[in-house]
Amino acid sequence: MGKIQMIQADPKKLKKKPAPGSELGFGKIFTDYLFLMDYKKEEGWKNPRIEPYRPIVLDPGSLVLHYGQEIFEGLKAYRWPNGGIHLFRPRKNYERMNRSAKRLCMPELDVEFALEATKQLIRLEKDWIPSDPGSSLYIRPNMIATEAALGVQVSREYLFYIMLGPVGAYYPQGFNPTDIYVSEKYIRAARGGLGEAKTMANYAASLFAAEEAHEKGYTQVLWLDAIERRYVEEVGTSNIFFYLDEELVTPPLGGTILPGITRDSVLHIARQWEMKVSERRIGLDEVVAALESGKLKEVFATGTAAVVSPVGKLAYQGKTYLVNGGNVGPLARKLYDFIMGIQYGKIPDPFSWTEKVV
Ligand SMILES: Cc1ncc(COP(=O)(O)O)c(C=O)c1O
Repeated sequence: MGKIQMIQADPKKLKKKPAPGSELGFGKIFTDYLFLMDYKKEEGWKNPRIEPYRPIVLDPGSLVLHYGQEIFEGLKAYRWPNGGIHLFRPRKNYERMNRSAKRLCMPELDVEFALEATKQLIRLEKDWIPSDPGSSLYIRPNMIATEAALGVQVSREYLFYIMLGPVGAYYPQGFNPTDIYVSEKYIRAARGGLGEAKTMANYAASLFAAEEAHEKGYTQVLWLDAIERRYVEEVGTSNIFFYLDEELVTPPLGGTILPGITRDSVLHIARQWEMKVSERRIGLDEVVAALESGKLKEVFATGTAAVVSPVGKLAYQGKTYLVNGGNVGPLARKLYDFIMGIQYGKIPDPFSWTEKVV
């Protein structure tokens, strides 16, 4: 792949960075540079470079635009109190990207090279990393099929790029429970499909139900399994956990849900805390029975964006159920504080999950 080439931006064209305390939101602001790299079947990955942020020019026949050969990732860089910049388990993202690549017949990346490219780009853009509480730099690696052809086929050419952008705290007004709508009509993924790959098709499949949930006043959709419409899969763009009796339950990785890195971290931590942890199927009938009997203590979603997102309300078959009285539960709070503490360098990292960039 060779050395990463650097193309400097015209200093007069650099964007104005948001002032401390500004409303950053999510995914609305992009930094000044991109990392890019090309692939050709006969030559492999080549021409790694950092260039000024710019639109991508694609042939209208590019296979990504017709048959959706695309994969992506999402991770964050955090500013620590000592000024250092750290990533959280970044290899897991590139390993997952390679699994997505395999499923979509796309070329794999050299994980160490992709990580080094990510770090170089972050070092160049470090002044963009906000320091307001809960804010971070979002990192979006993306791979698209660029060969122009209209027959359904595997592309022989690809573009890999990484974009960065400062993002605000997920809970600027404090840690708030969300309201979840169980989708009985629509499904996200079926066994044997693309569910465990991080690819655009899964997100396209989710939009209609998400719109419907929003119209009804709910934050996210809870997806059920495609066959029986009974077992819990995941919620919105997060994995899901149920704390019932003394057991922490999350659906198993059966090929239809995204293997979340936060999910894996929560499982690891809960086992370390000697909790009873189960990766097992959990039906909505069991959830409702546990809600009605008072056994269900907490429900929370996990993901890079919000880390831990407690569920306050669940709508299913025309009924609404309050979880933990609609309040944030102690386990969700403890996990949130612990993981955020590690990510932001405020507490020791017992698992060596953080990776220094600067
Ligand atoms: C569909 C889906 N499930 C789960 C997750 C959570 O994964 P992670 O914890 O790696 O962010 C995400 C976010 O990336 C997602 O898009």
